[in-house]
Amino acid sequence: MTSSSKTPNQYQPTSTPAWKTLEQQAKKAEQQNISAFFDQNPQRSSQMSVQSGELFLDYSKNLVSDETWQALLELAAQSPLEQHRAAMFSGEKINTTEGRAVLHGALRAEIGDQTIASAAAESDQRVSLVKQQLADVELVSAKIRSGQWLGSTGKAITDVINIGIGGSDLGPKLACSALQEFAHPDIKLHFISNVDGAEILTTLKKLNPETTLVALASKTFTTHETLLNAKTARNWFAETLGLENAQSSSHFVGLTANRANALAYGIPADQILEFAEWVGGRYSLWSSIGLSIAISIGFEKFVEMLAGAREMDLHFQRAPLAENMPVIMALLGIWYSNFLDAQSNAVIPYCERLLLLPSYLQQLDMESNGKSTTLDGESIDYQTGAILWGQTGTNGQHAFFQLLHQGTRMVPIDFVAAAVDNLSNEEHHRVLLGNMLAQASALMCGQEAPEGEAYRYYPGNKPSNVLLLDQLSPKNFGALIALYEHKVFVQGSIWNINSFDQWGVELGKKMANQLLASDSDVQAELDPSTTALFAHIKQCQK
Ligand code: F6P
Repeated sequence: MTSSSKTPNQYQPTSTPAWKTLEQQAKKAEQQNISAFFDQNPQRSSQMSVQSGELFLDYSKNLVSDETWQALLELAAQSPLEQHRAAMFSGEKINTTEGRAVLHGALRAEIGDQTIASAAAESDQRVSLVKQQLADVELVSAKIRSGQWLGSTGKAITDVINIGIGGSDLGPKLACSALQEFAHPDIKLHFISNVDGAEILTTLKKLNPETTLVALASKTFTTHETLLNAKTARNWFAETLGLENAQSSSHFVGLTANRANALAYGIPADQILEFAEWVGGRYSLWSSIGLSIAISIGFEKFVEMLAGAREMDLHFQRAPLAENMPVIMALLGIWYSNFLDAQSNAVIPYCERLLLLPSYLQQLDMESNGKSTTLDGESIDYQTGAILWGQTGTNGQHAFFQLLHQGTRMVPIDFVAAAVDNLSNEEHHRVLLGNMLAQASALMCGQEAPEGEAYRYYPGNKPSNVLLLDQLSPKNFGALIALYEHKVFVQGSIWNINSFDQWGVELGKKMANQLLASDSDVQAELDPSTTALFAHIKQCQK
């Protein structure tokens, strides 16, 4: 920790010397050009790239001069980041509004990883608890994969439906899609999250109830979308197999941090796979919430995914700030958002199996850092979490890239790709990666317009990172997700916010309950526009 680091309650990012320097640098940046930085420094691309395991980040194509970069590193050093990071990994209750520790790192840690002597014994105990919980994931996934887990009519499982939402859906769904190269050939995974009945009813129609297992995934076991979908699945088992209380049969398992609620719901005790309350919902794919991943790719590969995340955890904890991949990505995001007024950033994987990465990152980033109150309860007068969006390339090239090249907004981009792809062939992969590199280069270099054809002008100077995985293996996928988790953490630390609560989702939930209440007095409390819309829908439905 640097001597200028401060505890959160003394800290205001905008009062640090580095923040003031960066405000000055932002004025200079208006005149700067990324391509010119390369002319001034031929070593720029090697100096502005970093490797961790099999992940390689080139961040040289950013609108960041050497001076700016030094000031950004100073900003990190002058913030409570390093202290906050140690507090997170050692199990302090840094989620202050919910009074909870934030220990998804413990889900992939090994005994002895904790370097803070006073926290070592407790950390090792936690790792042992996690290993016990993961042993249940291993047992259940192995039984299902080997055909030993039987439905109520004695048949092996062919289809698993993960019913969950938010963190209890997005992580497992992304991982199963990303790692489909390793998927079990005879067991299909389905993910039901939305309360839109068309989703679950259409899925159920295609399935055989005798060979279907529901993995009911909910940290709290109270989420109304998940419970309604589970009810529909139970009714389906009752109607098709005459199975009353299917939730208590071998067709259901519960994945939760709330054992009591799962038991009360009727899930048999030995079919509840638990995880600890100190795992945040959007950080839970590494826990028993990842059962569907283990069923799909096998427990051994699931463990490789955890090992990749651990490798990134160790990198994040040990690498100096200037060589620390999550810190670098976080600082670049802060530069654009707080100093150059970028409103959003795009994540564009050149890999169709990472199609769901932007949706996953939307929850991770925007639910974590979409905050406007400091850790000390003060209102914030600077920007926090940026809007994150994206989709795969090359598809995006034929959709929104026009705006990226010639629009008026600055959108910093993360390009993500695997250097080698065993599921593709040489020709396809060369074209895919060639397109990604060409786009990143064109965005930076731009092009003059021919005389009288201003519409052909490409201004260039558009920043991007290129993040390359050697290949899309379970280990590298784990490292990739942990990288973004830590990037979000670094930004939250510098912005002095609690990245681990999500109070902003509560009001909408409460009002949905109000609106759906049959009690007309309760409905009368709604605003006039909502009342009129509700009445219109009722009229249409008559
Ligand atoms: O949207 C709020 C939220 O609490 C998320 O953070 C969480 O991932 C999701 O709901 C689902 O919650 P649960 O796993 O408890 O059903």
